[in-house]
Amino acid sequence: MQLIACVDQNWGIGRNGNLLFRLPADMKFFRATTIHQTVVMGGNTFRSLPGSKPLPNRDNVVLSTTLPPGDNYLVVRTLNDLLAVLRRISDQDSIFIAGGEQIYRALLPYCDRAVITKVGANGNADRFFPNLDQHPEWSLSGDVTHQHDSGYNLTFCHYIYKGGKENETIS
Ligand SMILES: NC(=O)c1ccc[n+]([C@@H]2O[C@H](COP(=O)([O-])OP(=O)(O)OC[C@H]3O[C@@H](n4cnc5c(N)ncnc54)[C@H](OP(=O)(O)O)[C@@H]3O)[C@@H](O)[C@H]2O)c1
Repeated sequence: MQLIACVDQNWGIGRNGNLLFRLPADMKFFRATTIHQTVVMGGNTFRSLPGSKPLPNRDNVVLSTTLPPGDNYLVVRTLNDLLAVLRRISDQDSIFIAGGEQIYRALLPYCDRAVITKVGANGNADRFFPNLDQHPEWSLSGDVTHQHDSGYNLTFCHYIYKGGKENETIS
């Protein structure tokens, strides 16, 4: 399983229930990376989507105690139920943990990769992704690529779980 997030220079991801930046290039990257895959999100992130509608052309799984069931997304009520649903997906690399903070923190121990877009700016966030640069069990992997978008410098990075302790397994 992989996490996917866009973070600012402080690993901030959101403020007042919304994203920190409007970045068409990163949105395009997110869509291209997750299209036809499974995206997993928390109730707050789902409610922040346009019209509170699921992301199209993806299997949306939402962890929420309050969200009513919907036709084109799956709601699960507990972390254990979520893990049971994800365990049944044969291609574990097709699962993307898409936020927000509560969901990233809960699922990080079950993931072995993270796809991170870094924005070279301070978005004054009130929600954060765990800082993988300071995490002893994670390391930056391979090449990074750079792009300018809407006046911001973006760096596209991949992190991998390198161990230190056995990561949790959902199988
Ligand atoms: N930059 C990025 O890449 C990125 C990506 C995604 C989101 N974000 C941002 O992140 C922020 C939202 O993050 P957040 O931490 O506030 O919310 P969140 O993680 O999206 O959702 C939290 C909600 O998930 C449900 N939940 C969490 N743990 C649960 C559990 N163990 N069992 C059942 N339900 C559980 C609850 O929903 P209910 O209240 O419905 O029960 C809880 O209120 C927003 O600002 C959003 O824009 C940023």
